[in-house]
Amino acid sequence: MSLPFKRRAPLNSIPADLVSVADYARYAPDFIPHAIMEYIAGGGADEISLKRNRTALDELHILPRALVNCTAGGTHTQVLGEPLRHPLLLAPVAFQTLVHPEGELGTAEAASVLETGMIASTLSSYSLEEIATRCGSPKWFQLYMQQSRDFTLGLVRRAEAAGYTQLMVTVDAPLHGIRNRAQRAGYELPAGVEAINLKDRPPLPSASFEPDQSIVFQGMMSEVPTWDDIAWLQQETSLPITLKGLLHPADVLRARDIGLAGAVISNHGGRTLDCVPSAIDLLPRIRQTVGPDFALLMDGGIERGTDIFKAIALGANAVLLGRPQLYALAVAGKLGVAHMLRILREELEVTMALAGTPTIADITPDALFK
Ligand SMILES: Cc1cc2nc3c(=O)[nH]c(=O)nc-3n(C[C@H](O)[C@H](O)[C@H](O)COP(=O)(O)O)c2cc1C
Repeated sequence: MSLPFKRRAPLNSIPADLVSVADYARYAPDFIPHAIMEYIAGGGADEISLKRNRTALDELHILPRALVNCTAGGTHTQVLGEPLRHPLLLAPVAFQTLVHPEGELGTAEAASVLETGMIASTLSSYSLEEIATRCGSPKWFQLYMQQSRDFTLGLVRRAEAAGYTQLMVTVDAPLHGIRNRAQRAGYELPAGVEAINLKDRPPLPSASFEPDQSIVFQGMMSEVPTWDDIAWLQQETSLPITLKGLLHPADVLRARDIGLAGAVISNHGGRTLDCVPSAIDLLPRIRQTVGPDFALLMDGGIERGTDIFKAIALGANAVLLGRPQLYALAVAGKLGVAHMLRILREELEVTMALAGTPTIADITPDALFK
């Protein structure tokens, strides 16, 4: 696929001053056209939630223990019944050919080399089957439920056949947030980039509204899933189901009580409803509500090994990484993604060693300063 809108060509070696995840964000605007950069980096409305994702992490501090023997340490863990080399996975991120022609295929190869789980988006620019051939494990599929149950089921069957082992159903983006930054930049999905998995989706019936009806409530929201659809999905597939995009403790409790496998605590990178708390704000309360055994993942603002550490300390079993994978892909293709993942893995190891918490199980709330 050619990208007529590309800026600088991706690098094929890593510059010496590119040493942190934030450095990729610093480099990215040279490699990503302005409107696309604004779409990726931006959040909803006034970006209060987007900013909160970082400040909530920055406000936490680690309280290290000294003189701990860490020689048997490591970052291995188990999440949703699957072994992870480290408690970090690549979040589902749509349309990755926006930033590099290899798109999700490059990301998947890098993740596989770094033994990092990847969650392929329904809205990926390569088919879920092609991505699956490049992915190592864990290999999970993010599902946006469609208006047609038959079409949704078709996606699920394809994911099962392609070897995905978990279904992550995103529930916090039934419609786009008010994305003013992307609007101001005139962002539109460029020709040549499409949601290939949805190519054969049946057209939505044309809607007309009475004067007292709303395009939001009677229009868009009439097409989006509810808890009934989740119960239906549970009947239809034996893949474990996780809900992505929960914030309210009562919703997470309900997910647990109806037998779902886990939840991703997330505000969608601050891109949907503005003025909500960050996942890290809610994690302790949610962990307390659902108990120790329900799988909780989180995302939003993760950029450092210390961030992963803080999330684990507050009750997450693993974290997801969103925007940085696009920045790294744009700057240096799969080499960039692999390098960025390696930076994070090493930072987590250094953090654990310096904090005197040699294993993931050792990272408890006591490891943070209150
Ligand atoms: C450009 C972009 C596209 C995204 N596409 C999806 C998607 O297709 N499905 C989904 O569940 N979440 C999607 N997300 C949200 C991410 O999965 C994740 O929740 C968020 O990016 C985490 O925040 P972070 O970017 O600060 O790491 C997207 C995020 C971005 C920035």
